[in-house]
Amino acid sequence: MIGHNFAQHSIKSALKRGFINDVSSKHVMPSISYFQKNQLSPDSNQDLWAKKLASPIVNPLRQRFLALAQHKPTVSVEEGSIRSELNSIIKQDISQAIQMIGTGYPGPYGDLAVLNKCAQHLTHKGLFVSDDELLINNGVSDGLSRTLRSLLQTDQYPEVLTFSPFFKPQASMVNLAHPQAKLVVSDGQKNYFRPSFNDLNHKITSNSRVLLLTTPHNPTGVVYNVKELTQAIQFCKAHHLYLVIDATYFDMSQTNCYGDLQQALNNEPYSHIAVIGTNSKLLSAAIRSGWLWTPDAALRDHIAHGVTVDLAGVSVMASIAMSVTIDHFIELKMAYTQTIDIKNLWYQCFDELRIQAPAFCQGGLYLTIPTPNQMPGSVFAQLLRDQYDLGVVPFQYFVQDEFDDPPFIRVACVNQPSTQYAIQSYKKFF
Ligand SMILES: Cc1ncc(COP(=O)(O)O)c(C=O)c1O
Repeated sequence: MIGHNFAQHSIKSALKRGFINDVSSKHVMPSISYFQKNQLSPDSNQDLWAKKLASPIVNPLRQRFLALAQHKPTVSVEEGSIRSELNSIIKQDISQAIQMIGTGYPGPYGDLAVLNKCAQHLTHKGLFVSDDELLINNGVSDGLSRTLRSLLQTDQYPEVLTFSPFFKPQASMVNLAHPQAKLVVSDGQKNYFRPSFNDLNHKITSNSRVLLLTTPHNPTGVVYNVKELTQAIQFCKAHHLYLVIDATYFDMSQTNCYGDLQQALNNEPYSHIAVIGTNSKLLSAAIRSGWLWTPDAALRDHIAHGVTVDLAGVSVMASIAMSVTIDHFIELKMAYTQTIDIKNLWYQCFDELRIQAPAFCQGGLYLTIPTPNQMPGSVFAQLLRDQYDLGVVPFQYFVQDEFDDPPFIRVACVNQPSTQYAIQSYKKFF
């Protein structure tokens, strides 16, 4: 499989070049930016973005948490700002790309040359796509909202099926897509957070339109395997549903999500599918950019022209960010391979405490963990905050019914010192 070879090659070459522990290594070579190669207009929106880059927005909660963990008064943070560990060459490349690109309209799908580059990039990773099946967007929040609006627009009481827990903004996206739209949830907790299509069968009605899957999953870290993806396609085929995949964490998995999805599509070809990815986890959450793939030309066209014409101009910046992310993909991804070791620290902790991890996790930044003595997640999160100034998210945030307060919290595997600090604080309650 091309994707697997590519991933292995990337890791080997990155190891050889010393990227694993230090992405700011002097060995990181700058790539020649697409904009330089194509000698694009020197007109720029440089001033605007130079200002953004100079004064990133800092998330105070995260900053306090990391500072405590590292015994420092303050530290820089990656969320909501340009990621602090990005090497200066990448930052320089961003500024160069900004200087080189014009401010002209890039077309409804994003800059054509960048779409082509993105198609090659995804194909190389294992998902065989062409540039006329792609659309550059402003990240998954934008791509998913627009897709749902497009798919649900003409129905009376459309229903979107998904598994619980789920990333809460997805519920808002469904509600905003259509005033009468409903999110129908199958309880994943019953099946150790793996998808159960048996249970989902009972939720089908004549109004069911979309199956929404998130893999790797936030908050559980579960990654759907080829069999589960194939079952999802079969389920959608049988019930005439659109399959929409939130691929925010596709690049943060021990398995090759692109190759696995391609294998599922080889097993069960299907064109009513949309997969939406983002650069916000790899490059920066402050520079909004991502991709949407669908082999359904009508859907792509409708999302680009019929849903949010007002957003089209933003994709000048999104195209720049896409190009820079692809140019620096290996270095950017390497920083995230560290989350695997960080997750292992949590597994060691569970072993020591003799408690069972609630889910088998192969990806993502996040982990769902149990509270002591079945304590409601919101109570335990409050205790951690009050006693250790530790910010974790109660599991309640990820379920449908706000009165349901299951005995879990979600932790982020961000960096070694902060995870060690979180583990120490967690252990004190057992
Ligand atoms: C599952 C999931 N979907 C979507 C998003 C939002 O992604 P973006 O920043 O690309 O809008 C996130 C961000 O945390 C997420 O966890």
